Amino acid sequence: MKHNYINEIKKLEGPPKIVKIFSEKEIKMIQELYFILPEKIFNKKQNVRKKVWIQNYNKELDRIYCDKLKDVLGNFKMDTLTSDTGENFYGIFHESFSPLKLHADSGFEEKDIIFKQVITPLSPIGETVIFKNKWYGKSTSFTIDEDELKINPGPGQNERSCEHLGIEEFDREIHRKYLTHIDINNLKGLKVELIYKWKVGETLIMDRSHIHCSSSNIKNKKIALTTFTKK
Ligand SMILES: [Fe+2]
Repeated sequence: MKHNYINEIKKLEGPPKIVKIFSEKEIKMIQELYFILPEKIFNKKQNVRKKVWIQNYNKELDRIYCDKLKDVLGNFKMDTLTSDTGENFYGIFHESFSPLKLHADSGFEEKDIIFKQVITPLSPIGETVIFKNKWYGKSTSFTIDEDELKINPGPGQNERSCEHLGIEEFDREIHRKYLTHIDINNLKGLKVELIYKWKVGETLIMDRSHIHCSSSNIKNKKIALTTFTKK
C-alpha cells in the first residue's frame, strides 16, 4: 500500500516539536488512568505491555486531553483504533521492557491523510530516535532479517520491509551510543533528525511518516502514551 494523498500529507508536515502541555497534576491523572485500565496485550516476544485509553474512565481527563491536543494540533481526528462500539480510543499506553526497533506508524488506510503522533513519556529514562527518512506506505517494521521479511502481517499489524535502506553507512558513534539493539546494516542510508531525551512533563509531536525507534538505553522499563492522529 502507498498513501493516496502524499502531497496533502506532506503539506501538513514539519519538524518534530517538544511541548509542555500537561501540568504535573494532569500527568499524574494520566498515570493513574494507565494503572486502572484493563490490559489489552502482553506480547512476550516484543516484551511489551499495551493498554488502550478507553473513554469514560475519567471523563474530566478525557476532556482535558482532547482540548490540549486541539490547542497544539488544531483540528484533527483520532486514529488509534476504535472500540467494539465504535468509540475512538484516545491513545495507546506502551510499557516496554526492551527497546522498540525501527518502524513507522504511518497507518493502515491508504485514503487517510495521516497527521501527527503525540508521545507523552510517563517514565523518566530513555530516548526516542527520530530519523529524517520518511515512509508513506502502511505502518511498517524495517528489517534486513530474511525470516522476518517473510512474515505475513494480520490486520492491524505492521508490514515488514527493507525498502528503507540506502547506501551510506550509518554513523558508528551514534549506533554505539543509542542503537545497539539494531543491526547497523539495517540503518544504512538513515540520518538522524532528533534524539529526544525523555522528560516526564514534556510531550513530543512528530509527523507520522517519520521512521523512528527507541534508543537502546532502557532501565528496567519505559512507559509512554502515544496518540495517532489524522486529518
Ligand atoms: Fe512508534
